[in-house]
Amino acid sequence: MVEKNTIYEIILSTYNQQNEPHAAPMGIILNDKNQIHLNFYEGATSCKNLESTKQGVINFSWDPCLFVDCTFFNDQLASDIFQKAPRINAPFLKPCKGNYWTFIVKEKRIDKTNNKIRFICEIQSEKTIDLSPRVYTRAFSSLLEILIHSTRVIAFLEPNHPQSFQLPELRQLIVHHSSLIKRVTPENSLYRTLLSKTINHLQQIDMGYNYNEVY
Ligand SMILES: Cc1cc2nc3c(=O)[nH]c(=O)nc-3n(C[C@H](O)[C@H](O)[C@H](O)COP(=O)(O)O)c2cc1C
Repeated sequence: MVEKNTIYEIILSTYNQQNEPHAAPMGIILNDKNQIHLNFYEGATSCKNLESTKQGVINFSWDPCLFVDCTFFNDQLASDIFQKAPRINAPFLKPCKGNYWTFIVKEKRIDKTNNKIRFICEIQSEKTIDLSPRVYTRAFSSLLEILIHSTRVIAFLEPNHPQSFQLPELRQLIVHHSSLIKRVTPENSLYRTLLSKTINHLQQIDMGYNYNEVY
């Protein structure tokens, strides 16, 4: 069940003008009018794609690999992982078949104070979400926190970024969640592999901080 006015983390899939598919994790909120709100930082590929096609797919998933690859490694996604969704110019992720909503953009608002772009969207096909039973591990939520904070670190590293003052706190949060994953999973497990993959990627970009020393 998707409750109103709560932020859920999903994977948004879109086409660009050349009909090339793209996927990225995003937060969504369902408002009281049953519309979806998506908030983007300027420059996001998904944002540009929605500006041009005005259509997209919300994929519901618990797959940590999909979240990692859609955040930083779109180029490593299997070429046939996308399929055009029915009656809409946007792709869905095949592993999320039966667990996605299609939508059409109705309105775009610019939030100048927070440097964000908001799309208000109408759900076109709302199917019942039927995710298979999930055994909860704290590693999943910590991995998602690391991914979210890493994308912020990368964005805030831009020269003169107004939120660069948040970098020390974000790096600490990444370290905190990395330790948590290490506490609840054994070496060589899936979550440890995804953690190293993510931290190694981040380290190559955020060279001003040594994640490997703490990791
Ligand atoms: C769980 C999760 C939620 C995210 N939510 C948002 C969001 O609501 N808005 C946003 O602009 N980026 C969000 N991000 C970051 C984008 O997925 C990431 O920066 C992405 O690479 C940029 O989007 P793009 O690939 O469309 O350029 C989120 C990342 C994760 C891992």
